[in-house]
Amino acid sequence: MTNSSCESSTWLTPVRLRDLRASDRPELERILRATAAFPDHEVAVALELIDHALAAARGAARRADDYCFAVAEHDGGSDVPGRVVGYACWGRNPMSDGVFDLYWIAVDPAAQGGGAGRVLMAEAESKARAAGGRMVLVETGGQPSFAPTRRFYERIGYVEVARLPDFFRVGDDKVIYGRRFDGATLAQAAATFAAAAH
Ligand SMILES: CC(C)(COP(=O)(O)OP(=O)(O)OC[C@H]1O[C@@H](n2cnc3c(N)ncnc32)[C@H](O)[C@@H]1OP(=O)(O)O)[C@@H](O)C(=O)NCCC(=O)NCCS
Repeated sequence: MTNSSCESSTWLTPVRLRDLRASDRPELERILRATAAFPDHEVAVALELIDHALAAARGAARRADDYCFAVAEHDGGSDVPGRVVGYACWGRNPMSDGVFDLYWIAVDPAAQGGGAGRVLMAEAESKARAAGGRMVLVETGGQPSFAPTRRFYERIGYVEVARLPDFFRVGDDKVIYGRRFDGATLAQAAATFAAAAH
């Protein structure tokens, strides 16, 4: 089922978005591994979230809006089945009153740079807003190998709000990026907080 369609002549990869299907699992695993961004244990967690969402859709697991998915497929026209190019997974942070976490985003290396990541993030934000969300947070790595990913988040309006030194391993920080929906940047909010504390 198609849940929205996003297309622009400026994007190299016209994509449409739809819900997760059971048949997506092998291709999403292939994409996760092909990005080379995720070690095996992280791919396993990503697949667990996919399995949980598929089970919830079958009524075989707790119905969760805790793991929401959008799958991007190449838009070759309404009658043409699309090739899956990536997906995003997000959910409400149960410890907050309106913060959503982006748990996963991955785009096939063959389609990276074509706008699919931006479209997937826009979908996650739109759904989070519609569900009463006020902020999206994203965790990523601080290593040089994740510099392109950090640039991606910065390009689409996210700012670094926190850094946990040596989180993943010594010398490998966790970096948290965020975006508020009220227009205030998290950088402004952090500056206001710092000023108030002095
Ligand atoms: C990060 C990722 C999801 C981005 O998806 P994408 O489809 O390549 O990104 P888009 O084409 O939508 O790019 C959106 C913006 O980010 C910028 N951007 C994307 N990748 C970039 C890179 N490697 N370096 C610099 N900027 C980049 C684009 O230039 C674009 O900005 P613009 O429209 O102003 O020119 C994708 O590269 C990916 O799957 N990476 C590996 C997995 C990963 O790191 N996931 C996140 C884990 S936290």
